[in-house]
Amino acid sequence: MEDEQLLFLSDVIPTSYWSVEHSGVKKGDTVIVLGSGPIGLMTQKFAWLKGATRVIAVDQVEHRLEHARKTNNVETYNFSNNEKVGELLHEETGGGADVVIDCVGMDGAVPPNTSFGSKHNNQFGTISPLITASQSVRKFGTVQVTGVYGTEANNFPLGDFFTRNVSLKTGQAPVIHIMPKLYEMIENKTFDPTDIITHRASLDDAAKVYDIFDKKEDGSIKVIFKP
Ligand SMILES: NC(=O)c1ccc[n+]([C@@H]2O[C@H](COP(=O)([O-])OP(=O)(O)OC[C@H]3O[C@@H](n4cnc5c(N)ncnc54)[C@H](O)[C@@H]3O)[C@@H](O)[C@H]2O)c1
Repeated sequence: MEDEQLLFLSDVIPTSYWSVEHSGVKKGDTVIVLGSGPIGLMTQKFAWLKGATRVIAVDQVEHRLEHARKTNNVETYNFSNNEKVGELLHEETGGGADVVIDCVGMDGAVPPNTSFGSKHNNQFGTISPLITASQSVRKFGTVQVTGVYGTEANNFPLGDFFTRNVSLKTGQAPVIHIMPKLYEMIENKTFDPTDIITHRASLDDAAKVYDIFDKKEDGSIKVIFKP
């Protein structure tokens, strides 16, 4: 196999696969994937493969949502100008999704009208993706937190989880254990492991391309270097 086909076996692909497995997505489920970076995009693929009948991608970077529509045939939702994204998704899914997978983490953007308490919660980073998840999941549904949260969190919406019987699952993907299965799936061409690559560059151009990637310019999603 080509290097590019195997490169993401070290992190992106096992993390995304595990997110879907660990969240318990099953046939017929509606799945909301928050974030359409490399992890979110791959998670969308695995949600379909697991039998979901509706997959909704949420982001505020339009070129990433366009990529999600094109490569994964998902519905997309751009939250940037929307008021209450969690509540809107709840309504749009007729009472909430079976599974919401947070592929954003503490570096996520804060939707414009998030309440003051959630926005300025006296801590590093944000928990706004978790708030969106808690509002857009159905009663007895599951929220899988794959995005990284490294600190304690104030204003965590525990009441929403409790009163609506929502299960919260999270953790670090056990990458090495899943690699052999995914290697086989790549070999069998079950999915395309390379379609998140938007830029290929030489190491000499690393600083320039990193800047583009950091600012999410030029349609960037994943950059690989070929020395
Ligand atoms: N749990 C694990 O084992 C594991 C492994 C690898 C990566 N991760 C984590 O997964 C997360 C995603 O990784 P990535 O490389 O795809 O990151 P990324 O930054 O490329 O993608 C995140 C996307 O989320 C979007 N976003 C920001 N705020 C949002 C919000 N409030 N709602 C919806 N979308 C929002 C951003 O515009 C961006 O496109 C990171 O936190 C990363 O550290 C976890």
